[in-house]
Amino acid sequence: MKVYFDNAATTAMDDRVIEAMLPFMKSHFGNPSSVHSHGREVRSAIEKSRKKVAELLNASPSEIFFTSGGTEADNTALVCGIESHGITHAITSPIEHHAVLHTLEVLAKKGAVRLHLLEVNEKGEINLDQLKSLLKENPKSLVSLMHANNEIGNLNDLDRIGTLAKEYDAFFHSDTVQTIGHFIHDLKNLHVDSLVAGGHKFHGPKGSGFLFVRKDKKIHPFIHGGAQERNMRGGTENVIGIIGIAKALELAYEDMAGHRTHIEKIKTHFIKKLTDDIPGVSFNGLSEDLEKSLYTVLNVSLPPSDSNRGMLLFNLDLEGISASGGSACSSGATVGSHVLRALDHNPERDSVRFSFSRFNTIEEVDYTVGKLKELYAVEA
Ligand SMILES: Cc1ncc(COP(=O)(O)O)c(C=O)c1O
Repeated sequence: MKVYFDNAATTAMDDRVIEAMLPFMKSHFGNPSSVHSHGREVRSAIEKSRKKVAELLNASPSEIFFTSGGTEADNTALVCGIESHGITHAITSPIEHHAVLHTLEVLAKKGAVRLHLLEVNEKGEINLDQLKSLLKENPKSLVSLMHANNEIGNLNDLDRIGTLAKEYDAFFHSDTVQTIGHFIHDLKNLHVDSLVAGGHKFHGPKGSGFLFVRKDKKIHPFIHGGAQERNMRGGTENVIGIIGIAKALELAYEDMAGHRTHIEKIKTHFIKKLTDDIPGVSFNGLSEDLEKSLYTVLNVSLPPSDSNRGMLLFNLDLEGISASGGSACSSGATVGSHVLRALDHNPERDSVRFSFSRFNTIEEVDYTVGKLKELYAVEA
């Protein structure tokens, strides 16, 4: 059996997304900047996609900029948000994705900004009282806190953080790569100034993404060149990626509640089977808590075992099960996780992140827990 439980790293494309993209690889090949009919038909498809994305997020089309993915969108928001608004203090947490952490660290190293890292407890919960006092001391800061953590699934309360940010006139950026397409975002009512998406996290194409920037918090471009994306991102558009991400988002919204129910059943069953079958199993972060974590992520901590130490992902792979240990984008890499390190995780225990999509089944969970049981040699 082959099981794919690494959907936080990337997802399989939906056939309907591929179908929507195909004409733009074949007959509709014009450059959207060209004024002739070949160009105009493609331009019109891009603008329809932008309108669709904006409608689904309750934003205005002029607030949506297509990018090459979450990383570029995060870089744009952080680098240009700080520069365009004359910001001198940035506040984030040590368990953000590297697309945010490394970008802010580079800015701090260059002296562009002073960086403050919020404390997190052993469950990965961020100290929001500390955020409040830092904002009090440094109003007009940039706050960058993700919606859901890609490794442990912890959900941040964007409403609460956004309200605090607004109170202290801060620029609030949120890395929403793991939640766009899985949760409803109502951007007219959420106090977030910028957020980002990557199409491949919700059955769209890799190398597609978008950045939302609120109208009254305009920023300068990150990539200079032509006038594409209303002068905000030079370079001929990734047309098929744009068509694909908009279609994938549309499909995600068509039955988000249904997908969620299906995936929650998988996660609940997984937690129960593991707890019943593997003595000493526990869960990292808040991933066991259905209310407080992303329903697509379960981060499992397994008891110390000589035969699996450092080899667990490899052993699972041999059984046809794909899962991940570290950050989504370096899954399979042997480097330790900066997120688990920040949680004071016991290095004797092996951790594995299982992440789900609407294409997974209960049978896959049973197969996986059965194999874990064998690996940990638990008597039936
Ligand atoms: C939370 C988070 N932010 C950013 C990224 C980067 O997104 P992309 O792969 O689209 O560049 C990822 C990808 O794993 C992610 O999980």
